[in-house]
Amino acid sequence: MKILSVNLDQVLGVKSELPSTGKPEFVMAGRSNVGKSSFINAFINRRNYARTSSTPGKTRTINFYNINDQFYLVDLPGYGYAATGAVEQEKWGRMINKYLETSEDIEEVIQFVDIRHDPSKQDMQMFDFVKQSTGFEPIVILTKVDKIKRSQVKKQVADIRKCLNATENCVMIPFSAETKQGLQEIYKIIDDIIDSPDKPE
Ligand code: GTP
Ligand code: MG
Repeated sequence: MKILSVNLDQVLGVKSELPSTGKPEFVMAGRSNVGKSSFINAFINRRNYARTSSTPGKTRTINFYNINDQFYLVDLPGYGYAATGAVEQEKWGRMINKYLETSEDIEEVIQFVDIRHDPSKQDMQMFDFVKQSTGFEPIVILTKVDKIKRSQVKKQVADIRKCLNATENCVMIPFSAETKQGLQEIYKIIDDIIDSPDKPE
């Protein structure tokens, strides 16, 4: 994959109408602070195009990043950030669910889990929700792999697979926004999907 152009086409607030982009959308879900926005920056090879923060709850909108005028990376607000307040979280939860259930352009859901920790209850719920609403398991990106020892990676992947009740076929990619480990593998997966003959027009 070559990144030729990037454009933040749409930023949706909680009351916005959901757009129909007509291009394959790769939706990124995961708890707040897991590293979704950092992933986007690594993916597009920019330092701070998607705003990141060490304080959770940075991304509060649904952001549609148009890549090469060919597909979208869709950055969802992170779940599980208590300080946003229960009412706010509830509103967002509903909007995210509505988007996941109604968008006709979603090609793949990418779920982000911190490789250092067992998935949270909300991670498990999201995984199951995606499986139920799309019929497929999400692709799982295990973030911050630079923060554990190489020798621990295999065990963490196996543990997380077990916690999520994911099949052996479920694609799990250890990733680091710092070292870019895993990035080429992710490029290949997306390339294969958008180049496949039955891709949506
Ligand atoms: P919200 O917008 O709150 O949902 O968070 P997010 O998932 O977009 O997380 P973000 O990318 O803002 O990253 C959160 C923090 O984790 C930042 O301090 C990042 O620098 C750090 N971080 C993200 N990815 C990595 C990684 O691969 N390795 C390391 N060491 N730190 C990372
Ligand atoms: Mg973010």
